[in-house]
Amino acid sequence: MQILISKEEISERVKELGKKITSDYQNKSLIALCTLKGSIVFFSDLIREIELELETEFIRASSYGKEKTSSGDVRLAFPSALSLIGKHVLLVEDIIDTGMTLDTIVTSLHTRNPASIRVCSLLLKKDAARPKTKIDYAGFEIGNEFVVGYGLDYAEKYRNLNDICII
Ligand code: IMP
Ligand code: MG
Repeated sequence: MQILISKEEISERVKELGKKITSDYQNKSLIALCTLKGSIVFFSDLIREIELELETEFIRASSYGKEKTSSGDVRLAFPSALSLIGKHVLLVEDIIDTGMTLDTIVTSLHTRNPASIRVCSLLLKKDAARPKTKIDYAGFEIGNEFVVGYGLDYAEKYRNLNDICII
């Protein structure tokens, strides 16, 4: 296990993202959507750096199973009462690799008629295939290594590490 991004670096970047989001969403009804489970730690830190009266919701996306590469079969689960009509949605993601998960979620969110959809991802794999969807806020660009910690897992473990580590 080798530290790629330390908790101090993460904390500083999350503050910057929160400031930017705060200024971009002035006077707008913002709903922050957390993608379970990988985004939980990032999400809980990020929303506390956004100085707005936002709402939160949680959606479930899974595609990896126990492998280090995406299965390509993205499964989504939404809360049954989720209404996005007229709301400005900020989708909070842990990491974009192939972009398949993101594109699947965003396509599905559009059918719920939100006022807008923007994406904030903590990590972007820079050599990976890019999603069709634009990433509006990105924390860090990383290489093709598989990382864990700060919410990210390998076979459901290591989500509780404070730093982002290469496994
Ligand atoms: P994509 O659909 O290929 O973009 O994969 C996105 C999802 O795969 C993320 O939300 C993560 O749950 C998982 N993932 C991709 N790369 C990594 C990694 O390096 N570590 C842990 N999870 C990853
Ligand atoms: Mg995952």
